[in-house]
Amino acid sequence: MATGTRIKTDEGQGRPTLALGDLYAPIATELADAERIFQEELSSRFPFVQHLVDHCADFQGKRLRPALVLLTARACGSVTPSHSVLAAVVEMIHTATLVHDDILDEAMVRRHAATVNAEWGNETAVLLGDYLFTHAFHLAASLDSTRACRWIGEATNRVCEGEMQQVHHRGNLDLDEASYFAIIEGKTAELTAVSCRLGASYAGASDATVAAMDRYGRELGIAFQIADDVLDIWGEERVTGKSLGTDLEKQKLTLPMIYLLRMVEPDVAAEIRRLLDEAHADHRRLIRPHLERTGAIDRAWQKAKLHVKQALDALDVLPDSDARSLLRILAQYVVRRSS
Ligand code: IPE
Ligand code: IPE
Ligand code: MG
Ligand code: MG
Repeated sequence: MATGTRIKTDEGQGRPTLALGDLYAPIATELADAERIFQEELSSRFPFVQHLVDHCADFQGKRLRPALVLLTARACGSVTPSHSVLAAVVEMIHTATLVHDDILDEAMVRRHAATVNAEWGNETAVLLGDYLFTHAFHLAASLDSTRACRWIGEATNRVCEGEMQQVHHRGNLDLDEASYFAIIEGKTAELTAVSCRLGASYAGASDATVAAMDRYGRELGIAFQIADDVLDIWGEERVTGKSLGTDLEKQKLTLPMIYLLRMVEPDVAAEIRRLLDEAHADHRRLIRPHLERTGAIDRAWQKAKLHVKQALDALDVLPDSDARSLLRILAQYVVRRSS
């Protein structure tokens, strides 16, 4: 591969995993700019607020959304200074949603560190999430058109709707597949879609290409969330660096569980429902054999892979380039990741 991207084998699971650092090499300078902008925008004269901002900067995630902005820009034309600002903006929105999500999930660990709610309490976490949201829009408004603000505003509205729908359906063990997809398209895929749309649009791409990049980001986001939902049951906290099992604990039904409840005999379904009702059950350990035996877990993977395929198809409008190859690899990565 021209970019030197390596696919490694993860010893524990024997599945190929990818070194994101290699994948991001061609956009390393712009990613570093985005990180600097992120920290400058959030800096505060109050030591406590600055301490919280430092926490967000010190414990970074995979930076998937900034990478999507920058790689789509590269694949559609060229990366401009506006793209680094946009990359910082989408990462700020993403971080805000995580800080708030960890309150909802009562999660203790995020990015291999204590969550903001665990370390400083829910009040601080609510306010830090707000601070990240308001700064994201403040920063987006520094660009010379209102397009970014409007698009990011629309996407964030949908992210919030998705999270609200999820809360609304908590405890609904009859959640159907269509409602699940509506939730994940909102809470996760809107932000990956807008990241790609912004990358393409600010690179001067045609309307048709911008729409195709939106589709790529959306399909990738859907696959990403299905994989995340599998990891919530199957992953290892040591590897993911975040609290797992919270979907089951909070009775948030995800795709593997929807398939499982549909596939098993009525008496087993009743047993699983009872298990989900128990507050202190070792849900993950008890549910895994059912997911394996019935093939529900494979079905969820197949569905994720179908969305990866649709993401890849959307890239066909682009001319061949290193950046397009990287977007292809990134789409495949989302269903191979272990963190
Ligand atoms: C976590 O997103 C939230 C989901 C949408 C599943 P990431 O897995 O991209 O989180 P970080 O940024 O790498 O920590
Ligand atoms: C949350 O989904 C996604 C957001 C948009 C915040 P999850 O609850 O599955 O994310 P994790 O697993 O905590 O990262
Ligand atoms: Mg969560
Ligand atoms: Mg999750």
